[in-house]
Amino acid sequence: MTDLAGAPMTHLVIGAAGHAQEVAWSLRAMLGGDPELLFFDDRVAPGPLASGLGSIVGPLDRVAAYARTNARLVLGIALPRLKASVVAQLAPLGLPWATVVHPTATIGPNVELGDGSYVAAGAIVTVNVRAGRFTTINMHCQAAHDAVLADLVTLHPGARLAGGVMVGEGAELGTAAVVLPGATIGPWAVLGAGAIALRSLPGGRTYVGVPARPVRHRGRAMRLDQGAA
Ligand SMILES: CC(C)(COP(=O)(O)OP(=O)(O)OC[C@H]1O[C@@H](n2cnc3c(N)ncnc32)[C@H](O)[C@@H]1OP(=O)(O)O)[C@@H](O)C(=O)NCCC(=O)NCCS
Repeated sequence: MTDLAGAPMTHLVIGAAGHAQEVAWSLRAMLGGDPELLFFDDRVAPGPLASGLGSIVGPLDRVAAYARTNARLVLGIALPRLKASVVAQLAPLGLPWATVVHPTATIGPNVELGDGSYVAAGAIVTVNVRAGRFTTINMHCQAAHDAVLADLVTLHPGARLAGGVMVGEGAELGTAAVVLPGATIGPWAVLGAGAIALRSLPGGRTYVGVPARPVRHRGRAMRLDQGAA
């Protein structure tokens, strides 16, 4: 892939952990060939990746040195609060964010995917779906007709949205979570792995189980939100 002047496009992947490498692998499958992929991560030491997808250059403050006209950012982070933080950190560079869709994802008509969003292998996004900026629709997720995903939403692998579901900004649905038709999940809510939301749930809380109910306390996930990609 080249920019308008014919220079090869460089992709600056933000994050270098497993999820970032999955996004990079999807990007490579989408573009074909062997695109240049440079990884940046504050917590992983520089050097080549075992997956062979590219090399870690260094921490995020090194990205500025690669901010050329032929560079695009690729969001390799799935946790919504961390996504928000790195997007704000890198905004002054003014670089475009790539939207990555694995070739085995199925995208129907009248679907909008915002800049910096990611649709992983085997996901299905049917018709009239709106997904905002920096949304993550991971492996084998389903977003049915008329679903609306606000900015920074993350659907972890196998999560399923029935028709007409709305998911508020920064909400996170755990692996295999399900939201039934027409329900709204409020902003920055967390739906635990395997939970089923039978009805609308207010934002800012964590819900688990079938039917999904608020957890009494939050522990491990809070700590993850504050640290890991
Ligand atoms: C819901 C979740 C965010 C809660 O994490 P947490 O805030 O650290 O909460 P804790 O682990 O302290 O658990 C709090 C309570 O909820 C229960 N619980 C946690 N996750 C649950 C789940 N998915 N289903 C049912 N109960 C759950 C715990 O057993 C505990 O119950 P207790 O208060 O009766 O002891 C987390 O367990 C989860 O499901 N995350 C999804 C992660 C995911 O899918 N990642 C995908 C990566 S690819």
